[in-house]
Parts: sequence; C-alpha cells; structure tokens
Amino acid sequence: MPLTEHAVWLRDKAIDRLRNVLFGVLRAGPIPQHVAFIMDGNRRYARSNGMKLIQGHVDGFTALRRVLEICSSLNIKVVSVYAFAIDNFQRPKEEVDGLMNLAERALLELCSHGGILAEHGVRLNTVGRTQLFPPEVQAALNKAKELTKNNKRSVLNLCMPYSSRDEIANAVEESVQNALLEGRIECVVVHKDIEDRLMTAKVNTPPLDILIRTSGVKRLSDYLLWQCTENTQIHFVDTFWPDMGLVDLLPIILDYQRKIWAQ
Ligand code: FPP
Ligand code: MG
Repeated sequence: MPLTEHAVWLRDKAIDRLRNVLFGVLRAGPIPQHVAFIMDGNRRYARSNGMKLIQGHVDGFTALRRVLEICSSLNIKVVSVYAFAIDNFQRPKEEVDGLMNLAERALLELCSHGGILAEHGVRLNTVGRTQLFPPEVQAALNKAKELTKNNKRSVLNLCMPYSSRDEIANAVEESVQNALLEGRIECVVVHKDIEDRLMTAKVNTPPLDILIRTSGVKRLSDYLLWQCTENTQIHFVDTFWPDMGLVDLLPIILDYQRKIWAQ
C-alpha cells in the first residue's frame, strides 16, 4: 500500500530525529580530526546497475556530498578525498573529458550560495598538480578556493590531480631550493622540511586518523603515503563509492572510539 504524503513526512521526520540523536551520541565520544577517502568503484557501480559509465562518477559526486554532510555533523575537522590521480589522465579520452566536465560543474555547485561548503563552513584546499587541468577546471578550483577561504569550521582537501610520490618529491625539491637560496653549503633535509611543504600543509591539517578505501580493493594507490602515520587506522570497505554512507561509516567511527578508549 503506498504511503500517504503525511506518512512519508512523518517517517522522514522520525529518521531525521534518529540521525540527530545518533550523531549526538557519537559526538560525546572521541571524534577523529582528519579522515581521508579513496573514492573507488564508480565504474563498477555503473556497470553493475546497467548505467552509462559517467553516471557512476555523477553518483560518486552525490556520495561525496552525503559523506561531507555526515563528517560535518560529526565535527570532523579535515576531510581529504582522492578525486583524480595523475595516472587517471591515461584513461580513455571520453572518460577524462566527462570527468573534467563533472569536476567543473561539481566545484561550482559545491561553493555556490546554499552549496554544501558554504552551508557547513568548509574551506576548500586543492592538493595536487592543478596546472595539468584544462583552464575551465582550474578557474572553477580557484573560484571555489577564493569563495571558501574564510570558512573556519572545517577543511576539504580535494586531491586532484594527485600522486603522493609526486607531492613528496615536490616537497624535497622545494626544501633543497630553499637551502640553496639561503646559501647553506650543507644541505640537510629533515622530516619537518618535507612536512611543512606538503600540499596538505597549506591549511592546518592534523595527523591522518582514518583512511578509508571503498570497493573492496586493498591498495593505497599512491595516496597520502607521508600523511599515514603509525596511528592511522586503515579501513577497506566492500561498498562501491557511490553507495557510501552512514551504514559504512558508523562501524568505522565506533571502531575508532573503541581503540581510543582502549589506549
Ligand atoms: C574511482 O572510481 C573514482 C574516480 C577516478 C573519480 C572520483 C570522482 C568523484 C567521486 C566525483 C567527482 C567529484 C569532484 C568534486 C571532482 P573508478 O573510476 O576507479 O571506478 P572502478 O574502480 O570501478 O573502475
Ligand atoms: Mg578504481
């Protein structure tokens, strides 16, 4: 029997209340400061649902908004997402073009008036070799950064086009250049020199507490290799990224709290 409009309204209201209670309970415990996602499985999701491949990425963007809202409700200060690997430029031209198009639209929507970044006070930080992107995408990234630069509640590190080894090599190169400029004859590069020059250090980024990869693949794929410390908890979940949501995040947050309490 179909639900009446009023019954639907009541059901949604009850779900909303329950979610708020759940978030309130979780927030009473320790909350990770920095959570990163390898958003994987968009194309397999599209294939398994009989959709066009690009729809997997479009639904992946919807999942990103959903996950950002959950993280914001939990007061997670920094979220990092792997949105495009430098290697992804090797994919078929049609897919790369589709992703560039989506990225441009997605960025403008994220930072628009009433968009999720404005609504939740999120500052956008770009991490990666953005100069490799077409000018329209670079312009959208710059606009999103500019419009959100005074947002103080949390940070979204949007990693694209990114590779961790590229980021580290770049940080080492900058450290050496700096030593040369200062006329230091003995050029010693210490951990802090590199850490200070990582692209995630452009905004205040706490140590990485949790790294999550979706779609059942158990690889790090050159993502945040330096930022992963001895305390980073790594989770591999089977869900394809476009289906990612509270059901998968809840056990991960509870596991984090259990481990912190057990210390
Ligand atoms: C990995 O799945 C996903 C990507 C390469 C693109 C990620 C992009 C989004 C989630 C949406 C875009 C959002 C912004 C803000 C630009 P895959 O393509 O490797 O899928 P597969 O593992 O099933 O092959
Ligand atoms: Mg993949």
